[in-house]
Amino acid sequence: MSETPNMKRTPIMEQYEEETGKLAIWKGEISKQFKKWEQQKEKEEIKKQKLEIISESRVEKKKMKKEVKEDKIVGKDYEHLIVVENLHKTYLLGTTAVAALRGIDLTIDKGDFIDIMGPSGSGKTTLLNLIGGLDTPTRGKIFLEGRNISMLNDNKLAEIRRERIGFVFQFYNLLPQMTAMENVMVPLHFSGDLSRRGKRKRAMDLLRLVGLDERAHHTPSELSGGEQQRVAIARAFANDPSVVILDEVTGDLDSKTGIMILNLLRDLNKRGATFVAVSHDAAVSEFANKVLHMRDGKLTTEGEIGGLKETKIMESTRKRGTEINKEKCKSKIFQYLFLNQGKTEIKMSEIKLYIPTGIINNLPEHFEDILQELIYDNNLSAKIDGELLILQ
Ligand SMILES: Nc1ncnc2c1ncn2[C@@H]1O[C@H](COP(=O)(O)OP(=O)(O)OP(=O)(O)O)[C@@H](O)[C@H]1O
Ligand SMILES: [Mg+2]
Repeated sequence: MSETPNMKRTPIMEQYEEETGKLAIWKGEISKQFKKWEQQKEKEEIKKQKLEIISESRVEKKKMKKEVKEDKIVGKDYEHLIVVENLHKTYLLGTTAVAALRGIDLTIDKGDFIDIMGPSGSGKTTLLNLIGGLDTPTRGKIFLEGRNISMLNDNKLAEIRRERIGFVFQFYNLLPQMTAMENVMVPLHFSGDLSRRGKRKRAMDLLRLVGLDERAHHTPSELSGGEQQRVAIARAFANDPSVVILDEVTGDLDSKTGIMILNLLRDLNKRGATFVAVSHDAAVSEFANKVLHMRDGKLTTEGEIGGLKETKIMESTRKRGTEINKEKCKSKIFQYLFLNQGKTEIKMSEIKLYIPTGIINNLPEHFEDILQELIYDNNLSAKIDGELLILQ
């Protein structure tokens, strides 16, 4: 067989020669017939993989359906509000399979404010959609209040979405012809428990909760972006959901309005609401109690300190984190003092409220000591007097 020294036969070429009895390299050049054969082989391989995925997911689906029937409503006493087990989602796009989620495990408890961060395409929206029952997984389980929702049919899933889950998206998705109050009432149409009057009252209460009761009769075009998002938040709470899903909720807002929305979400969270958020906005993580990081369809361990045994490296990361929070806290205090120039006294509790919970709950020292240090280092004419900061 003639072969130039720098043109080595690859295993696939050997396979070609074995199967066809022809040479893959002829007079130092790769034969055209071989190239054609190789392309054909690639196509066949892709087709085979696709079929494997389809049949694998069919087998899985069958298995899961059976399990769902068996643990129909394991519900009642569940340990975690949401449990996600070995979740996979593969999208079939033409001849290619996109593995958007590749084995996610996580738990969410009542009162959690979870922020999922990660680069574009890492699978955040896919994960949210599965948790929110907007789509079903290729493999794995999702338990909501102890009930396996991963394989429910469309009608059942729609029922769960209506009754147990609230959604807030980047672009508010309000109905343009309806007033704020009518928009909030939309999810209540399906609830048979309330009279028309009861529904109006509930919608008004929710608008009051987000500070918009005076705008109840305005349509979305008569409201600002931040106000529209507040209406969307009120609507998400209409059916008293057990979890509210937030996908890029500050994505379309300027940073000041974004912070206002986050402050509102924090208040609701303090009153017991559970949030699962996805965001590119780093500010969101400061309001969350758990930050999860995603990459290539998987969760990385970073930020999951609460649920894992802490290693030395994680401990030092956490400690570094609290030092960073101390700096962030100082800059927030400065900001607040700047915004309140001219006042002679400020309640400590007011300053504390201005600082995101994610920061204030994770400080390396007492808030008062940090404030004292800031006064001292910057030679400010101010002193702490019990619950007050006195400014001279
Ligand atoms: N309906 C779909 N069909 C095919 N592929 C999809 C579909 N939805 C998402 N994908 C692919 O799955 C992967 C994860 O997408 P996903 O939207 O979950 O990412 P993301 O982390 O939310 O990204 P971003 O930050 O840009 O919103 C991407 O590679 C995306 O192209
Ligand atoms: Mg997304």
